[in-house]
Amino acid sequence: MFRILISDPLSEEGIHALQSTENVNIVIDIGLSPTELRDKISDFDALLVRSQTQVTRELIRNAPNLKIIGRAGVGVDNIDLNAATEHGIIVVNAPNGNTNSAAEHTMAMLMAMSRNIPQAYYALKNQQWERKKYLGVELKNKTLGIVGLGRIGTEVAYRAKGQRMNVMAYDPFLTEEKAEKMGIEYGAIEDVLKNADFITVHTPLLKETRHLINAEAFQLMKNGVQIVNCARGGIIDEDALYEAIISKKVAGAAMDVFEEEPFLDNKLLELPEVIATPHLGASTIEAQENVAIDVCQDIISFLTGGTVRNP
Ligand code: NAD
Ligand code: MLT
Repeated sequence: MFRILISDPLSEEGIHALQSTENVNIVIDIGLSPTELRDKISDFDALLVRSQTQVTRELIRNAPNLKIIGRAGVGVDNIDLNAATEHGIIVVNAPNGNTNSAAEHTMAMLMAMSRNIPQAYYALKNQQWERKKYLGVELKNKTLGIVGLGRIGTEVAYRAKGQRMNVMAYDPFLTEEKAEKMGIEYGAIEDVLKNADFITVHTPLLKETRHLINAEAFQLMKNGVQIVNCARGGIIDEDALYEAIISKKVAGAAMDVFEEEPFLDNKLLELPEVIATPHLGASTIEAQENVAIDVCQDIISFLTGGTVRNP
């Protein structure tokens, strides 16, 4: 019997496929503390997670039977990949299933920020009819700077063009030819930071991208720039962002992801310029079905053929 532990909420559609596979025993146990998970993991062959479960070296050390870790989503920064590799454990993610939802959420945040929609809604709920206070800015003819033009960054670029924005992007793998084909401008990161009216980051969180947007980066930006992070907490240095808002360099920030999650007791939330959602980028029915199906299919392929597709 192949035992699978699911430790974060996963869409039923994926789980159904696993349940109909022979010789599989599935245990769903959500919200375990790190100690509870460490005590439980030793019997399991596979672990399925989203972003809440931290798959640390210590957890992996206590998982002698673990053969495969499935991540229902893109980012694998909650999994110690070196430790998994050293223990011969395969890590699979579901990189495509939530691209559209994350891009749509980015656009929603961009538009909500530029028109002060959350602040105005909150005021209205508190019986304040504040038309003058919530004067916004248009997106049309403004420059959107995209840092990281992978799956989600690319989808955001096309949507921003639909809003009649000029798009300038930096990605180490972007060429001028590709940018031209997409109808966007290619720039070095400094050019993007200097020229953008709005900036959105779409890189993974890596050693190289931690605090990529730091105090120095903010210095390069236009006064009154507005910034979005629907990628990963930690790409933007939150202390530097706080200072940049206080100094009026940054006029608005729209954050879906944070250096520490859950993000509740944080000084950024005290600033009226900051709008925020609790890591909802991939929280749609469609995205959750897609990523659960993709990652469960990989577990089934591993079980039945010993290989994985990692679509
Ligand atoms: P992707 O791998 O397709 O794209 C990432 C891009 O970043 C790549 O093109 C890569 O070349 C580029 N990159 C790497 N280092 C860079 C650097 N130093 N400067 C500029 N670009 C750099 O990934 P994706 O699927 O587009 O996901 C992007 C991010 O969004 C990831 O961090 C992912 O975890 C996150 N994400 C968040 C949510 C959410 O719920 N908020 C949902 C899905 C994905
Ligand atoms: C991801 O990396 O896929 C996102 O953070 C979405 C998620 O896990 O909820």
